[in-house]
Amino acid sequence: MTGRKVAIIGAGAVGASAAYALALSGICHEILLYDIFPEIAIGKAIDIAQATNYAPRGTVVRAAIKPEDIKNCDVVVITAGVPRKAEMTRADLLNINAGIVKEVTEHIKKYSPNAIILCVSNPLDVMTYVVHQVTGWERNRIIGMGGALDSSRMSYQIYQKTGFGAAQTRAMVIGDHGEHMIPCPEITNVGGVPLSQIVSKEDMDEIISKTKNGGAEIVKHLKTSAFYAPGRSISMMVEAILGDEGKVVPSSAILDGEYDYTDVAVGVPCVIGANGVEKVIELEFDENTKTKFAKSVESIKENIAILRDGGFFDK
Ligand code: APR
Repeated sequence: MTGRKVAIIGAGAVGASAAYALALSGICHEILLYDIFPEIAIGKAIDIAQATNYAPRGTVVRAAIKPEDIKNCDVVVITAGVPRKAEMTRADLLNINAGIVKEVTEHIKKYSPNAIILCVSNPLDVMTYVVHQVTGWERNRIIGMGGALDSSRMSYQIYQKTGFGAAQTRAMVIGDHGEHMIPCPEITNVGGVPLSQIVSKEDMDEIISKTKNGGAEIVKHLKTSAFYAPGRSISMMVEAILGDEGKVVPSSAILDGEYDYTDVAVGVPCVIGANGVEKVIELEFDENTKTKFAKSVESIKENIAILRDGGFFDK
């Protein structure tokens, strides 16, 4: 991987924050911003390009105006989508975003046929599955970003509770990037010290419930969803791919027998490197976690079934 060329599809709040975080890291040679509204991509690309003047290393930041401008990228991040409006049902939102993700994935398939795709659009696990179906590529090349963000939210809650170990916490959240997500305190540590030896059972329960509510808490204050932590989580994962870091990150991966599931994308610990998902790590679950994981997978499969029953994958 020599080019280090990254495209971000959807130059909204999350896409632009990801581009900004990546530009400041200086790891890419070039970042392209693409949006269905080119003016948004152009304006944000100019602003971020100017920010790179004070970055440790230069990065070319440009808008991609036409789909064919997303040529030969090493990594493509999908953050295109629409937010849920009051009159929309969950199924409406699912169908609209699946349509958008399908459209942009077809562009990626055509113009960046060797890319690794990092999907961020929601509902995350279902959209990651859609990307895999539309490309037909080897499953390791399709990754969903959800667990990285949820884990950063869990780390934040742990710090709020303990007041120490900032940036030293290695939290793990698996399952769907939604209401059935599974924070795993038993394999979470602060500076190598198991969480269970630092906080009480009561505090642990609070950390878990606040982690699960992490996205909603921000919406409550901001009236819109988060973008800085998602942006940084995306840039961390792109860095892991471009740098072939072999970094263990909970990510939505297409399962093919791991955890006894197939034909679904769900958050599990993955080794992230130059080939995308280099390895799916199979945790040993106790009965309780096994049940939670089954419920999580079930909720994703229900949404995939809504798309399938509507003929989405036949078109
Ligand atoms: N092609 C390209 N861009 C598109 C398309 C499309 N077909 N449809 C919509 N977009 C663009 C919008 O114009 C908008 O600029 O996607 C962008 C989405 O940005 P925001 O509305 O600001 O949403 P954001 O908060 O960035 O979230 C984007 O990421 O985390 C997920 O749930 C989130 O699915 C959502 C996505």
